[in-house]
Amino acid sequence: MSASVLAGQGIAKSFGPVQVLFGVDFAVRAGEVHALVGENGAGKSTLMKILGGYQPASAGTILVDGKPVSLRDSEIAERLGIVMIHQEFNLAETMTVAENIFLGREIVRHCFIDREAMRRASVKVLAELECVVDSDARISELSVSEKQMVEIAKAVSRDVRVLIMDEPTAVLTGAETEVLFRLIRRLRSQGVGVVYISHKLNEVKAISDRVTVLRDGRFIATEATAAVTPDDIARLMVGRDMSDMYPLHHLPPDDAPVVLAVDGLTVPGWVERASFELRRGEILGFAGLIGAGRTELMEGVVGLRSRSAGQVTAGNGRSIRSYDDAIAAGVAYLTEDRKKRGLLVDKPLTPNLTLLALGRYGKIFIDLAAERAATAKAIDTYQIKAGDIDMKVSSLSGGNQQKLLLAKTMQVEPKILIVDEPTRGIDVGTKHQIYLFLDEFAQGGGSVIVISSEMPELIGLAHRVVVMREGRVTGTLAGAEIDETNIVRYATGLSGVGADA
Ligand SMILES: Nc1ncnc2c1ncn2[C@@H]1O[C@H](COP(=O)(O)OP(=O)(O)OP(=O)(O)O)[C@@H](O)[C@H]1O
Ligand SMILES: [Mg+2]
Repeated sequence: MSASVLAGQGIAKSFGPVQVLFGVDFAVRAGEVHALVGENGAGKSTLMKILGGYQPASAGTILVDGKPVSLRDSEIAERLGIVMIHQEFNLAETMTVAENIFLGREIVRHCFIDREAMRRASVKVLAELECVVDSDARISELSVSEKQMVEIAKAVSRDVRVLIMDEPTAVLTGAETEVLFRLIRRLRSQGVGVVYISHKLNEVKAISDRVTVLRDGRFIATEATAAVTPDDIARLMVGRDMSDMYPLHHLPPDDAPVVLAVDGLTVPGWVERASFELRRGEILGFAGLIGAGRTELMEGVVGLRSRSAGQVTAGNGRSIRSYDDAIAAGVAYLTEDRKKRGLLVDKPLTPNLTLLALGRYGKIFIDLAAERAATAKAIDTYQIKAGDIDMKVSSLSGGNQQKLLLAKTMQVEPKILIVDEPTRGIDVGTKHQIYLFLDEFAQGGGSVIVISSEMPELIGLAHRVVVMREGRVTGTLAGAEIDETNIVRYATGLSGVGADA
């Protein structure tokens, strides 16, 4: 058994009066993949930011190679070979991919930054990751999964001894995850210690050697992964047995009226003549590989992207051409990229929550008391873990930001809810709540479109699943047809419109 390269002993952390870590022990060995799991807000990211030199601990000792060290900032940690990939991206949006990969350690030749050398080196790491992103592209032009791959490239291009990955696959496709796993295995065989934070317990099972569980800021257990099942891990995380993950399928009646009809919609460059119908009381899933055009289709549907052909019609026969039309028709849209479009992360919870529904909180003067009451209620309903109501959204844990976004979307009391990756970064317990919530919303006469890259989620939740591939709808599955094999067949082109076979 090899010794620990990086360890924390008795790590405690408080933000003002709120304590979030209580004497946690954690150690990663050279050549192991050590998973770190726990519910949203359990303290995973905070613990790793402390071990990565991004935040000081309130108490406790950090050891590198068994010797106490002081990691005053992340540069000191990096010099010791400790590199962290953050849950929320840490890229400079206006700079290029290559500039980001070499940020802070630019290659210099004869006093000048050697852009060509940086570009070549970037192309090389990106190629190792089988990532097709152009190293000259600006970060702002990339999709979330591409940004994640750049984060990973940036980290592995450094001399690492310990690589901390905070939910690296939350935004990756199955294929991208496979590439990442190959890379992780290679790093492990080279003696790198990898810390792997994830809510995807089957991934934890597949990739890790040991797993540590945190609950409410406390150390619960470290186990050999081979000795535990994903269910065991979930039980340790939540401290109780988990009931069935998905709600019963409450099928809408056959004659439920169509509330949204999309006919031949074309979003230039992304979507080609897509058609589908959404009924009252229905949960309609959208499956496909990342890049299949699902997000762009929905942005086109709600008028956030220009279209070159096709119609979108609401239940009352009115045509939806703009985002205002969509709102008037009772459509609420929850974006997949919460940082870019969803939340004002530098502001507290309240303005974030009520931003969409300002009309409800006073015409000229905002009714602050009502607004705060709504926030308190949302914190309760969605079980958002926030130290206090006035804290900045950027201080919420990743999963709690996602819950706030959902709460915000529901403030407008929509008829149609379009959600893009609604449970990304959300722990198993809260996922269950969100599924129940979407199911109840549909049973109450609402209609839901859910885009998800997690197949069990679509299979467990949706009444019908539309599958897309390369901008086209390749098939629609209903009832017993909805299974992983069928979804994959349509998503990869083995079946359906434009099938290769
Ligand atoms: N800068 C901060 N100020 C105040 N509270 C904070 C700050 N950063 C984190 N917290 C709080 O610390 C707790 C732990 O957060 P952390 O981000 O470590 O959780 P996590 O386990 O990573 O959760 P998730 O799975 O949702 O990412 C949360 O309650 C969070 O709101
Ligand atoms: Mg986190």
